[in-house]
Amino acid sequence: MALSLSNFLIPIAAILSSWLMPAVGADTVTFDWDIGWTRANPDGMAERPVIGINGQWPLPLLNITKGDRVIVNMNNKLGNETTSMHFHGMFQNGTSDMDGPVGVTQCDVPAGSSFKLNFTIDQPGTYWYHSHSRGQYPDGLRGQLIVHDPENPYLGQFDAEIPLTLSDWYHDEMPGLLAGFISYKNPTGAEPIPKSALMNDTQNLTVPVEPGKTYYFRLSNVGAFAGQYFWVEGHTMRIIEVDGVYTDPAETDMIYIAASQRYGFLVTMKNDSSANFAMVGSMDTDLFDTVPATLNTNVTGWLVYDDSAPKTAAALLDDFTPFDDFTLRPQDGMEILGDADLTVTLDLSMNNLGDGANYAFFNDITYTQPVVPTLYSALTTGANAADGTVYGEYTNSYVLEKDQIVDIVLNNADTGKHPFHLHGHNFQAIHRGPDNEGSYNATNETSFPVTPMRRDVLLVRPLANFVVRFKADNPGVWFFHCHIDWHLASGLAATFVEAPLELQKTLTIPEDHLEACRARGIPIAGNAAGNTVDMLDLKGQNESVPPLPAGFTARGIVALVFSCISAFLGMAVIAWYGAAPLSSAELASAKRFVAEHGGDTE
Ligand SMILES: *[C@@H]1O[C@H](CO)[C@@H](O)[C@H](O)[C@H]1NC(C)=O
Ligand SMILES: *[C@@H]1O[C@H](CO)[C@@H](O)[C@H](O)[C@H]1NC(C)=O
Ligand SMILES: *[C@@H]1O[C@H](CO)[C@@H](O)[C@H](O)[C@H]1NC(C)=O
Ligand SMILES: *[C@@H]1O[C@H](CO)[C@@H](O)[C@H](O)[C@H]1NC(C)=O
Ligand SMILES: *[C@@H]1O[C@H](CO)[C@@H](O)[C@H](O)[C@H]1NC(C)=O
Ligand SMILES: *[C@@H]1O[C@H](CO)[C@@H](O)[C@H](O)[C@H]1NC(C)=O
Ligand SMILES: *[C@@H]1O[C@H](CO)[C@@H](O)[C@H](O)[C@H]1NC(C)=O
Ligand SMILES: *[C@@H]1O[C@H](CO)[C@@H](O)[C@H](O)[C@H]1NC(C)=O
Ligand SMILES: *[C@@H]1O[C@H](CO)[C@@H](O)[C@H](O)[C@H]1NC(C)=O
Ligand SMILES: *[C@@H]1O[C@H](CO)[C@@H](O)[C@H](O)[C@H]1NC(C)=O
Ligand SMILES: *[C@@H]1O[C@H](CO)[C@@H](O)[C@H](O)[C@H]1NC(C)=O
Repeated sequence: MALSLSNFLIPIAAILSSWLMPAVGADTVTFDWDIGWTRANPDGMAERPVIGINGQWPLPLLNITKGDRVIVNMNNKLGNETTSMHFHGMFQNGTSDMDGPVGVTQCDVPAGSSFKLNFTIDQPGTYWYHSHSRGQYPDGLRGQLIVHDPENPYLGQFDAEIPLTLSDWYHDEMPGLLAGFISYKNPTGAEPIPKSALMNDTQNLTVPVEPGKTYYFRLSNVGAFAGQYFWVEGHTMRIIEVDGVYTDPAETDMIYIAASQRYGFLVTMKNDSSANFAMVGSMDTDLFDTVPATLNTNVTGWLVYDDSAPKTAAALLDDFTPFDDFTLRPQDGMEILGDADLTVTLDLSMNNLGDGANYAFFNDITYTQPVVPTLYSALTTGANAADGTVYGEYTNSYVLEKDQIVDIVLNNADTGKHPFHLHGHNFQAIHRGPDNEGSYNATNETSFPVTPMRRDVLLVRPLANFVVRFKADNPGVWFFHCHIDWHLASGLAATFVEAPLELQKTLTIPEDHLEACRARGIPIAGNAAGNTVDMLDLKGQNESVPPLPAGFTARGIVALVFSCISAFLGMAVIAWYGAAPLSSAELASAKRFVAEHGGDTE
C-alpha cells in the first residue's frame, strides 16, 4: 500500500484504483524525483559530490507491494549530465520501453528534461534501482527496492525485515575514472580500485535486534565492481530468496554476493542478550589487480542486543567458504525447461584496440551503442525487425522468436570473475563450471539439475563457463551484460531482441521518451544506423574503435607503457602479460604507437 512506504520519500500521490480492480487490490504509487547533485561522506574519509534524489543521499528505500503500478516522474536537475533509471530485475512485461538502459530501450534523458516511467510490478523480492547511463550509478544514483509480497510462503516465519545494502565506494567521480580506465595508459584494463566498502551507505552500522526474534534480511549489492563475502558472527543464515525467487531454505554461515545480486535470508536471534555481534562485508580482492596497503577491504556493522555492551571488532578469517548458489532450489519446484530451441554462445575476451585501450568482447565484438536505440529499431523496421542485421554489427544482437527456449553459453577466456545480468527475465542456471574448466563442452554434460536455481545475475568463474536457460515469453529488447560497471563501459554486453513483430503490435513509445532523443538530435526510427529506407544498409552505424593496425601488438604496447611508468613494474607486467621477452619488431611498434599517441606515458 502506498501509505505504508517506510521511508522519508513520501509518494506524492497515491491514486487508489482498488475499486476498479477488486480482485488485485493494486495501487498506483507515484514518485516525483528531482535527480540532482548533493554531497556526502559515507566512509568518513572524503566528502564528495554524489547524485541524490530530492536533495537526499543515501537514496530512499522503495517498498512497493506486489501488483502495484509505479509511476516515476524523473526530472533531470543535474545540469551537466544526462541520466536514466533502471529497476533492476523487473520483468517489464509489456513495458520494455520502461526498462531504462540507454541505447537499448531509450535515449539518455537530457539535463533539464523530464521523463516518466510507468509500469506494474508483479514479482516479489529484493531488488535495487539505478541509473543505466554510461558509468553513472557508482556516483550515487542507486538505491534499494523491496517488493513486499502478502503471499510470501515464508510469512509467519519471521518477525521483521532488515533491508541492507553492500557497496564498494570511490572518492573520485566516474567520468574521470572512466577516462583513465579506457585509455592506452591503462593497456591491461586494470579497473580502478575502490577506496572503501559500505554497508547501507555507511560504516559501523548498528541494527537493534530483539532476542529470540527472527529477521528477514534483504541484502542487495549495489556496488560498481566488488563482489562481497558476507557473514554474521555467531549466527546462521537461512537463505529463502535469491534475486526475487523464493528458494527452499538453505543454511550457511557465509554468502558471496556479486555486484548487483541479492539474497533474502532468515536469521534467528539468540535468547541471551548480553553480547552484540558483528556482521561483515568483505570485498573479493581477487577482482583487484592490486590491493593497496591502505585499503580496508572490509565493512562491519553490528546486531545490537544491548547498546551498553561492547561492539567488538570482527574476528579475522583465514579463508572464505561461501555457499554455492548453484545448489539452491526454487521453492516453487519449477523444473528445467525443455531442450533449447536456440543456443547463443558468447565467448568473452579482453584485448586492446587501435587506441591502445583495453576493451571487453563477446565473440570479438565490443558492444558499441547504436545510433538508434535498439528497441526503436525493432519497432520501426517492419518485417526486417526479425532480421538481426538491422540492429547493427556492434550490438551483439540476437533475435528470439516468441516462446523459444534459449540457452546462453558463456565461455570466459578471462582470468577474472564476471557477474552477468539478463534484463526482462530470470534464467535457470543449468551449468556452471569450476575455475579453469575452459569452454563449455556439451558432449561432456551428464545431467542438468532437475529443478535449477533461477536468478537474474550469475557469476562466471575465471577461465570457466556457465549455461543459463530461459523462455522467450516476454516480447521486448533485453540487455545482457556484465554488472561490473567498468566492463559494461568497455563493451561486455549483448542484446536480445525478443519477438519484435509481436512487439510492433503491442508497444507504443510515449512522447516524452521520443522527446529525449529529439532534444539531442538522435534519430528514433530505422536500423542501427538510422537508415529508414534501406534497413539492411548499415552505413553510418556507430562502430567500435578499430583493431590495432598491422605491425602494432598489444603486448608490446602494454610492455612499453608500463616500462615507461616504472622499469620494475614493466618487467613484472611483461612477465605476466606475455611471458616471452619482446621482439625488436614489437618494441618498435610499441614506440611508434606511443609516439603517435602523444608519447606521454607518465
Ligand atoms: C568505523 O569505525 C572504524 C574503526 O573505529 C573507523 O576507522 C571508521 O572511520 C569508522 N567509519 C565511519 C564512517 O565512521
Ligand atoms: C538501510 O537504509 C535504508 C535506506 O535509508 C533504511 O530504510 C533501512 O532501514 C536501513 N537498514 C538498516 C538495517 O538500518
Ligand atoms: C514493506 O512494507 C510491508 C507492508 O507494509 C512491511 O510489512 C515490510 O516490513 C516493509 N519492508 C521493508 C523492508 O521496509
Ligand atoms: C557536474 O557537476 C557536479 C557538481 O558540481 C560535479 O561534481 C561533476 O564533476 C560535474 N560533472 C561533469 C561531467 O562535469
Ligand atoms: C500508466 O499506464 C497505464 C496503462 O497504459 C495508463 O492507463 C495510465 O494512464 C498511465 N499513467 C500515467 C500517470 O501516465
Ligand atoms: C530460545 O528460546 C526458545 C523458547 O524457550 C527456544 O525454543 C529456542 O530453542 C531458544 N533458542 C536458542 C537459540 O537457544
Ligand atoms: C578483511 O577481512 C578478512 C576476513 O576476516 C581478513 O582476512 C582481512 O585481513 C581483512 N582485511 C583488512 C584490511 O582488515
Ligand atoms: C552512437 O550514437 C549515439 C546516438 O546517436 C551517440 O550519442 C553516441 O555517442 C554514439 N556512440 C559511439 C560509441 O559512437
Ligand atoms: C570434456 O571432456 C574432455 C575429455 O574427457 C576433457 O578433456 C575436457 O577438459 C572436458 N571439458 C570440459 C569443459 O569439461
Ligand atoms: C568434448 O568432450 C568430448 C567427450 O568428452 C571430447 O571427445 C571432445 O574432444 C571435447 N571437445 C573439446 C572441444 O574439448
Ligand atoms: C509475460 O506475460 C505473459 C502474458 O501474461 C506471460 O505468459 C509470460 O510468462 C510473462 N513473462 C515474464 C518473463 O514475466
